[in-house]
Amino acid sequence: MRGDGRWWESAVVYQIYVRSFADADGDGIGDLAGVRSRLGYLELLGVDALWLSPVYPSPQVDHGYDVSDPRDVDPVFGDLGDLDGLIADAHGHGIRVLLDIVPNHTSDQHEWFRAAVSAAPGSPERARYHFHPGRGPRGDEPPNNWRSVFGGPAWTRLTRTDPDDPEAGEIPDEWYLHLFTPGQPDLDWSNPEVWADLEKTLRFWSDRGVDGFRIDVAHGLAKAAGLPDDRRQPGWTPVADGLPDPRFDSDEVHQVHRGIRALLDRYPERMAIGEVMVGDDERWARYVRRDELHLAFHFALLGAGFDAAAIRDAIDRTLEAVEASGVPAVWTVANHDVSRPATRYGDPARARAMALVVLALPGTAYLYNGEELGLPDVDLPTDLVQDPGRDQGRMRDTARVPIPWEGEGPGYGFTTGTPWLPMPEEYGALTAASQLEDPDSTLSLYRRAIELRATHPAFAGDDVEWFGAPEGCLAFRRAGTTLVCALNAGTHPVPLPPGDVLLTSAPLTEQGELPPNSAAWLA
Ligand code: GLC
Repeated sequence: MRGDGRWWESAVVYQIYVRSFADADGDGIGDLAGVRSRLGYLELLGVDALWLSPVYPSPQVDHGYDVSDPRDVDPVFGDLGDLDGLIADAHGHGIRVLLDIVPNHTSDQHEWFRAAVSAAPGSPERARYHFHPGRGPRGDEPPNNWRSVFGGPAWTRLTRTDPDDPEAGEIPDEWYLHLFTPGQPDLDWSNPEVWADLEKTLRFWSDRGVDGFRIDVAHGLAKAAGLPDDRRQPGWTPVADGLPDPRFDSDEVHQVHRGIRALLDRYPERMAIGEVMVGDDERWARYVRRDELHLAFHFALLGAGFDAAAIRDAIDRTLEAVEASGVPAVWTVANHDVSRPATRYGDPARARAMALVVLALPGTAYLYNGEELGLPDVDLPTDLVQDPGRDQGRMRDTARVPIPWEGEGPGYGFTTGTPWLPMPEEYGALTAASQLEDPDSTLSLYRRAIELRATHPAFAGDDVEWFGAPEGCLAFRRAGTTLVCALNAGTHPVPLPPGDVLLTSAPLTEQGELPPNSAAWLA
């Protein structure tokens, strides 16, 4: 496999949303055998590693981010043998495999939570989660005012039958905390059993040959001591602007990341990357201190629109955030939680241009399946959307429609059955098979860019030097090398900086200028 040792520092990683990638058994939902059958494609694309979205047993309330057993595989995706086979085959193709670990919460169908529900208040079973009596005279108000990320209160009240008076029917019980859906109860990370179980999970998968882990909600886990009210919520006077969010980024969370690091350090070439959604860059940087996560997503670039000043600012912010700890930056403009770049930037040409920005930057790049095909978001009828985010108008399923591989609808080679979300007719022109044949396709652009990045000597140097650029444009050089990336996010064609053109995201104009909505690499 390419780049031994700290391979993750410059890798191109490809996120597979397993349910939407490739379906081998015809039930309309992607599976591990499907991923296995497409490894040749991923090798052609040139990626160094895969990150699989959660494949563990789960009621799929949040598409697998509600885990009922972190050390097994959901039958909808296959079984442990399929995952072992996938890991072995991927390694055979020179591709590493990362799993998605969900330590902030479990499913409400996890055996721990089921035991907690039938146990009494104050029991050790309940002490693995955040169970509390309600407020108000009858305890019918939630223990605090926290909101769930998906909208509504972050607390749900249980009911139970009184063993001494079963005739009385269901009586109110304690409330439990869930920062996401009620099907995702938050674990209490001050309980040592919770860490012991994560340790078991990380060992379980590392021993099976998994190369690393993406840590879901890595800024969650520990909660502010005493679960104080969120003073940023309406109802507080004066409204306390600028206060920290008590739900996330508690100091105690770093103990967990130190534990993860110490454990992974005992395995060769293993790594962890955290989903760290912390707005304050100094606090963000704590997650990648020397004895914590190897890498963390910084979402500034993903949050920037197609605007040269905003993109430059996001790149600078990200580089400054990692500077103190010396870890490489992680660049991404797409994942399963956001609108696809071809739609979000307002023009597929802009998404192609941004691919050259992402892949030119020093550090590591994370791509999301379908991004390399330039897939747009798909408008879905509301009744077909399964994402719990829909209630908040987030509609993340629009970026989770299955991948068109070849041929015709309804399945476009993704499935021989009915895809779990309908695939639109416009996918017919965007299949992987048709794009592989077309040298001007988005897929061909990604292949060429990833290949150059891996083989061309100009792709070294871990800093960025900015050049002066015309209004609406940006240009940077990888420090100490000759690689220049120029982006035209303006409205007129602009002259290119000096150098030999290695690759452009769109044809240059007849005058040899870089047209709007495009980018070029020069050396
Ligand atoms: C992360 C995941 C998202 C999920 C949430 C709860 O943000 O990326 O898909 O809904 O965690 O696990």
